[in-house]
Amino acid sequence: MSARPASEKPLILGDLAAKKAAGEPIVMVTAYDHPGAQIADAAGVDMVLVGDSAAMTVLGYDSTVPVTVDEMIMLTKAVRRGLHRALLVADLPFGSYEGSDAEAIATAQRFVKETGCDLVKIERGGTSVDRARALVAAGIPVVGHVGLTPQTATSLGGYRAQGRSADAALDLIDSALALQAAGCALIVVEAVPSEVTAALVPLLDIPVIGIGAGPAADGQVLVFHDLLGIYPGPAAKFVKRYADLRTAAIDGVTAYASEVRSGAYPAPEHGYGMPEGEADRLRELLAGR
Ligand code: KIV
Repeated sequence: MSARPASEKPLILGDLAAKKAAGEPIVMVTAYDHPGAQIADAAGVDMVLVGDSAAMTVLGYDSTVPVTVDEMIMLTKAVRRGLHRALLVADLPFGSYEGSDAEAIATAQRFVKETGCDLVKIERGGTSVDRARALVAAGIPVVGHVGLTPQTATSLGGYRAQGRSADAALDLIDSALALQAAGCALIVVEAVPSEVTAALVPLLDIPVIGIGAGPAADGQVLVFHDLLGIYPGPAAKFVKRYADLRTAAIDGVTAYASEVRSGAYPAPEHGYGMPEGEADRLRELLAGR
C-alpha cells in the first residue's frame, strides 16, 4: 500500500458534494498532532477532524467537556501544518459557542484565523441550529453533529445509542433537517441505529458522515487512536481496530529500556567519533592540567 503523493491538489468542499452525488464514500478520521495529520493525509483520507475527543485521547481528561479553546487551537494548528490534501474540520469545544450567536462567531473566527481550519463542527440541534445559521451567515462553513453528542452526554443518559425509538429518531431527523436548512455543509451522525441513518440520508442533500451509524451514511469517521489501537480505554461497539500500535509501542520502549539496562544500547554505530589523534591530544591536555 503506498502513500498519496504530496503533489495531489487540496480538496475543496465541492469535492465532497461531488462524492455524495457519485455515491463515492467520504473518508474522515480524527487527528490531534502533526505526525497524525501527515499519516492521515498520506493515507489519502478526505477530511481530518480535530475532534474534542482530543480531551481524552491526547490530553488525559475523562470527557470532552473540560478541553479549552486554547488547547484545541494549539492542536488544530499542529494538524494544519501536517495536512496538504484533506479538508480540515475543528471541533468548537463545549462552552465556547452555545451562549449566543456572537460567542459562536467570535470562537469560530479565532479557529479560522489562528488555525486555518476549513470548517468548524458544533454539536446538537436546538439552539445549535441558530448558532449554525449565524456562523454560515458570517462566512464560516459548519459541520453539524447529531445523535450521541458527547459534549452533552450526561443529559442524553450517558454514552449510549440515540434515536432508538421512532419518536426519538424523528426528532433526530428533524434536527438534521434543521441544521441543513441553517446552511451546514455536512452532518455527523453518531451512534444511531442503521435504520435511522438509512431513513435520514435520502432526506438530506448534504453529505452525512456516520460514526456508529451503519453503512447507509455518505461517509465514515473514526477516532485515530481507536482505529490504530493507541487508546487504552474500552472501545465503543462501532470501533474497528486496524492496528495495535499501543502494543507495538510498549514492545518498542520495553526493548529500548532493556538494552539500556544491559548495555546493548548504544552500540558503536550509534556514537560519534573524534578525528584521528584528537582523543590522544585530549588525554594529554587533561593530564597536563
Ligand atoms: O470529537 C470527535 O472525535 C468527534 C467524532 C467522534 C465525530 O466528534
